[in-house]
Parts: sequence; C-alpha cells; structure tokens
Amino acid sequence: MEQQAKKTIFSGIQPTGTLTLGNYIGALRNFKLLEDEFNCIYSIVDLHALTVRQNPAELRKACLKVLSLYLAVGLDPEKSLMYFQSHVAEHAELSWVLSCYTYMGELSRMTQFKEKSAKHQDNINAGLFTYPVLMAADILLYQADLVPVGADQKQHLELSRDVAERFNGVYGDVFVVPDPYITKLGGRVMSLAEPTRKMSKSDPEDTYIAMLDEPDLIRRKLKRAVTDSEALVKFDIENKPGVSNLMSILSTLSGRSMDQIEADFEGKGYGVFKEAVADQVIESLSPIQTRYKEIFADKAYLEQVMTSSAERARGIARKTMRKVRKKVGLAALTL
Ligand code: AMP
Ligand code: TRP
Repeated sequence: MEQQAKKTIFSGIQPTGTLTLGNYIGALRNFKLLEDEFNCIYSIVDLHALTVRQNPAELRKACLKVLSLYLAVGLDPEKSLMYFQSHVAEHAELSWVLSCYTYMGELSRMTQFKEKSAKHQDNINAGLFTYPVLMAADILLYQADLVPVGADQKQHLELSRDVAERFNGVYGDVFVVPDPYITKLGGRVMSLAEPTRKMSKSDPEDTYIAMLDEPDLIRRKLKRAVTDSEALVKFDIENKPGVSNLMSILSTLSGRSMDQIEADFEGKGYGVFKEAVADQVIESLSPIQTRYKEIFADKAYLEQVMTSSAERARGIARKTMRKVRKKVGLAALTL
C-alpha cells in the first residue's frame, strides 16, 4: 500500500565522460537521499548518447562505470530502479508515437539542439533533433510525477509536459504530466578554473574533480583552483566566486555552516583552506572509490543488477505502452 502512495521520480543520466564532483553533489548524493521517500527510477540513457559519435568500446565501458558508481554511492537496486534505456525497447517505441504528436517548430526552438548542432556541424543528425521526444518518452513511459532537472534541461521537460497534455487532450488521461523537482539539497558546483561557470565533464580536465580522481590529483587540482587576492575565507558569490565555490563544497560535504567555515579559517590564508577542502573531498569520495572498484570488477553482480532491473523496467513500460497502443488504435495482439 505504502509503495503506491509514493510519488515516482524519474531521472536520466548520459553515460558519457566521467562523473564529476558536481554530478555527485548535484545528483548522485541526492538520489540516495530520495530513495526512501520516493519511488526512484534512474535510467542510464545510452540511446541518447548515440546522438553524438561514440567509440563503441568506450561507451560500453562508460555504461558499466555509471551503473557501478550509482551502486557505489549506496543506491539500493531493490529500492531504486537503475537500468539501461536500451534494454527496454518501449522507449524507442513510445518515442516514435510521441514524435507524431510533436511539432517541428517545437523541436526547432530547443536551445540544446541549436547548441549541439553548432558544435557538431559535421553530424547534425535526426536523432539530435528528436532527442527531446525520446526524453519525453523516458519520462512518460514510467508515469513519473517528478523529474529532477538542472536549468539546461528545463526546456526539454516543458516539452514533455506539453506533449503529455496534448496526448491526454485527445485520448483521455494516459500519461501523468510530470513536474520539475527542485532539490533543496546541495547546490551547483562551479568550475575550478572559471568559478562563474558550472563544473562540467565536457570542460578541460583540470577544471573539474572526477568522482574517481586519485587523492593526489584532487589535492593538486584544488591547489590550483582559482580564488582571489584577498586571502579571506568569506562567502560572497558575487565578489569571491572561487572561494565561495570551495566553501560550498566543504559545507555540503561536511555539514558545516558557512559561518562556521568562515570562523574556522579566519586569518589562515588560502593554502590551509584549500588543504582542508581537499581533505574533505578525499574523505567523502574515497569510500565510494573503494566500493566502485569492487563493484566494477564484479561483472556477475553487475550483470545480475542489469538483468533484474531491465525486467522490472520492462514490466512498467509494457503497461504504459499497452495503453498507448490501444488508445491510438493499433490492433491488439495478445501474446
Ligand atoms: P550532466 O552531467 O550535465 O548530464 O548532469 C547530470 C546530473 O548532474 C544532473 O542532475 C545535473 O543537474 C547534475 N550536475 C551536473 N553538473 C553539476 C554541477 N556542476 N553542480 C551540480 N549538479 C550538477
Ligand atoms: N537530457 C538529459 C541530460 O542531458 C538526460 C535525460 C534523458 C533525462 N532522459 C531524461 C533527464 C529523462 C531527465 C529525465 O541531462
């Protein structure tokens, strides 16, 4: 009974590059905290990754890496559903149906499409254009109530809502119309080199901390992080974005308030402060890294999680797809 009262959260993460401290603080860490309150579905959206050219061996490895990291942060596969998008064929199927209810004009307005097509001019493929329809299918297939999204994905979520409402308008209540979920926990982690920009795995290596970076590397990167010439540990995003970013990281990971951090480092200079931030980041990431290594090496366990999760996901997806097929008038097949 209790299970049914819980709201469903759906989130998708692309298996590309490495996950950063920003991904950890802004996403993975929260995923764990949401696990008991919500019915959580975290999809590793490998089909979306195909919109840009990928090296097959690297992509395959990245997929397992992301799943291992999910498990390493402590997500419980019995509670949270973590599965690969490509293992549930209904994503592609619903995407096709929904693409017939999405207008060219709507897709042409998507800023991510405009940006990505400018960046990959030699490969402006149709998948890049219909990417938001697949995303809508991801969400609607699982009747998600809430979708945690960053600013860059808000437009795509809006489109998902519009398509769901349009479809429901014609056929009755088929889909739950998803709301954005804004977490109160952990903010945005900024780039170490340009602290007014988000820390991102698509930027140069020394601007971000990867979740799997070795302690020495973490220390070195933090030592080089951009600050200012004031030598004052004070939270002031506008005038001291670098220091404020490091303070946010320390505060989120240690639970210490900004006031406390300011007091702790009064008169101490940035060298000592950066060391302390590095100590905390290392302390927070190292148990995850240890678990990650064990899990990533245990292919049988990963296989088992993948298989049982795909089965569960298929069960939910099939139910929605059956409804959709019936509503749009496709002939029923009882197999
Ligand atoms: P992305 O890596 O951009 O695909 O984002 C995956 C998830 O991580 C999303 O939920 C983002 O909001 C979150 N995320 C990515 N980078 C950061 C960051 N620098 N700070 C906070 N959250 C982030
Ligand atoms: N487009 C999202 C991103 O790049 C990933 C994604 C795909 C997603 N499907 C989703 C996010 C469904 C939330 C819900 O970050």
